[in-house]
Amino acid sequence: MCYAIPGKVKRIENKFVWIDYFGQIKKAVNELDGLEPGDYIYAQGGYAIEKLPRHEAEGILASWRETFFQLQELDLELSKIDLAKSGLDKGVSELMDKSLKGFELSKEEVNYLIGIEDDKNLEFIYKTANFLRQKYIKNSCCVHGIIEISNQCQRNCSYCGISGLNHKLSRYRMSPEEIIDTAIKVSKEWGFKALVLQSGEPAPYSIDELSAIIKKIKENAPLFICISFGEIGLANLEKLYQAGARGLLLRFETSNQKNYSKLHPGSNLENRIQHLKKAKELGYLIMTGGLIGLPGQSNKDLVEDIFLAKELGAEMYSFGPFLPHPDTPLAKEKVINEKEVLKLLALIRLVDPKNAKTLITTAFETLSSSARTKGLLSGANSFMLNVTPVEYRNKYSIYPNRVTSGKQVGDQVEETITLLKSLGRAPTDIGVV
Ligand code: 5AD
Repeated sequence: MCYAIPGKVKRIENKFVWIDYFGQIKKAVNELDGLEPGDYIYAQGGYAIEKLPRHEAEGILASWRETFFQLQELDLELSKIDLAKSGLDKGVSELMDKSLKGFELSKEEVNYLIGIEDDKNLEFIYKTANFLRQKYIKNSCCVHGIIEISNQCQRNCSYCGISGLNHKLSRYRMSPEEIIDTAIKVSKEWGFKALVLQSGEPAPYSIDELSAIIKKIKENAPLFICISFGEIGLANLEKLYQAGARGLLLRFETSNQKNYSKLHPGSNLENRIQHLKKAKELGYLIMTGGLIGLPGQSNKDLVEDIFLAKELGAEMYSFGPFLPHPDTPLAKEKVINEKEVLKLLALIRLVDPKNAKTLITTAFETLSSSARTKGLLSGANSFMLNVTPVEYRNKYSIYPNRVTSGKQVGDQVEETITLLKSLGRAPTDIGVV
């Protein structure tokens, strides 16, 4: 099973490489030694990560060629906008026209759209977002894996089930060897090309241990490694980059400073933003976003969240619904509905139509059984599969009843690929920079 299509190196210049995928040319950062035009490589997250023997690459490409074009055609068909415009809100209609002409929407315009509630207008917004996704990004969909290496946490985030406030939860810490073995298995057995390592905060490993884990994984498996250990300190961000980490998944959760302070006693938004800025400077691929439906959050805050993610140079937008956890101070808060999440995913596409990799989060899948299909048809184009060893999954209880709690990786992979193919999507991340 493979999550990336090999591409043929066309040109190499300074630290960049240009790669040909069935006629589409993409640019990536080259960190491979001795690469030459004509070589075949895998790229992920904008980085060349592995060189393949020619015969192997040609074999894989031959099996993809037909499927690739068939999927693109199906996607094109499904992303046509076939809704009559009659009865549409005038503002919605004008703004969708503007988006379709290639303009990115302003904050004021998005503030107007986020107030739209009726199904017909929302449907038009979702369809426009899907059309733009098809137009600019085509049918590629990133499928990353995530290993939740420890649920130990000393932060007191009031929405989170693994926060230090939850004394009912039994805590675990995977050993470095277990993390490395799991990562290698995820690459070799299931073919993942990108992997997130996540833990509570602070991660219960020294920075040298984390560096050693990343190095060892990189030595043994061609993986794009993303770290998600919270606010590890700016110097440590640099150390882990040097060890080989290339992505940072760090949500700012909410861009509203006051609400942030209320929900995160003892910490401040500014420090989180500093991490994201420093990571961008260092060359990390930025995956960030926030929670949708937090108590005290307004529509205006959500619009600010989207624009903050864009300002921070997010390559991947990670926005998911807040789901109240029974063992947290926010246990009794209300849950938002599917259409609010879809609206947000669509608005991300209208704000950053040409670049956004928009994640359909597991929290959204937990909220709604149609999250994946509807999300993919509303501008989203990426997934993260839970590859944590099954015995730990229930303990990583950030919110209750996670859909992936007991699912074997092989089954998740199969389901994902079947769904993607049914919608004309290719499970690829051909990495654009
Ligand atoms: N509902 C949904 N997502 C949550 N997270 C934490 N608690 C919850 C919850 N109750 C998310 C946070 C964090 C990520 C690891 O999990 O946004 O960044």
